[in-house]
Amino acid sequence: MYVQVHVATHELDSWEKTVMTVPPKLLCFEDSMDLIAKLPTVAATIYRNLYRDGTSIGAIDPAKDWSANFTAMLGYDDPQFTELMRLYLTIHSDHEGGNVSAHTTHLVGSALSDPYLSFAAGMNGLAGPLHGLANQEVLLWVTKLRAETGDDVTEDQLKEFIWKTLKSGQVVPGYGHAVLRKTDPRYTCQREFALKHLPDDKLFKLVAKLYNVVPGILTELGKVANPWPNVDAHSGVLLQYYGMTEMNYYTVLFGVSRALGVLSSLVWDRALGLPIERPKSMSTEGLQKLVGASAAKAA
Ligand SMILES: CC(C)(COP(=O)(O)OP(=O)(O)OC[C@H]1O[C@@H](n2cnc3c(N)ncnc32)[C@H](O)[C@@H]1OP(=O)(O)O)[C@@H](O)C(=O)NCCC(=O)NCCS
Repeated sequence: MYVQVHVATHELDSWEKTVMTVPPKLLCFEDSMDLIAKLPTVAATIYRNLYRDGTSIGAIDPAKDWSANFTAMLGYDDPQFTELMRLYLTIHSDHEGGNVSAHTTHLVGSALSDPYLSFAAGMNGLAGPLHGLANQEVLLWVTKLRAETGDDVTEDQLKEFIWKTLKSGQVVPGYGHAVLRKTDPRYTCQREFALKHLPDDKLFKLVAKLYNVVPGILTELGKVANPWPNVDAHSGVLLQYYGMTEMNYYTVLFGVSRALGVLSSLVWDRALGLPIERPKSMSTEGLQKLVGASAAKAA
């Protein structure tokens, strides 16, 4: 199948004016590879402009891997932080297609929107506090806890703070999952990294204490399908330890990694020719039939 698509290249006059005929499968692959390759540069430039006075990201070193180059572009030279970024960028890439960012990228891409548009849509989903922004929410929540109780918090103080959060109608950020029913392995590997490299860090100790208390309370609440921590419960603590304190940037970092997963899925969607996606529509009559209600009863 061939479709009319807009193509962006440096040689062409403008993105809007130029129309070429290219097979969508090929275009999707090219654009996805292009996007994955350029995202670290774009994200690092944003970081430098916002937090490092617009200093240069430097040149890419082809002898180094993707994570090492990205870390260097951000301006960090601690090899341990580079190692953390390798872990971080791997575990945040994706784990299944049902989460908001992966599903949104798939949905928008199913209309044959190009990978740039599909990925941007996915990132808008990632920015929600119940999804990718949760890592920032965790840090804000833990900072508030610390301000109220100090670092030597007791288990009773923790319980009180958690219940106060729940009673105010908020969720405990970093806990729960739509699919997982046990501790997120992405939480566990970050915990193992912390146990190895920063066992005495105060923030890590606090997060570790929460791990002992939160699941019991969420279980007691009676409605939470998964009381265990997810990936977002831990990442902020590690980034803070190595000096990346700009919380507003955390979801951007998450997005750079997620591109690997959602864009490779998008290439597969196109390669397999998956159809446009939409929710099922039902007439009122159909809905009445479904629940066994007669028209008279429904009225
Ligand atoms: C991830 C999340 C959105 C999954 O939602 P879900 O699939 O609807 O989860 P559940 O089926 O367990 O939800 C059942 C109920 O428990 C609540 N619940 C789930 N996780 C909770 C948490 N961490 N704290 C408090 N309540 C929670 C839900 O809000 C829902 O309440 P409701 O029936 O009053 O609306 C949810 O667990 C959550 O909000 N977690 C905190 C935010 C977070 O860490 N997000 C990152 C996920 S990787």
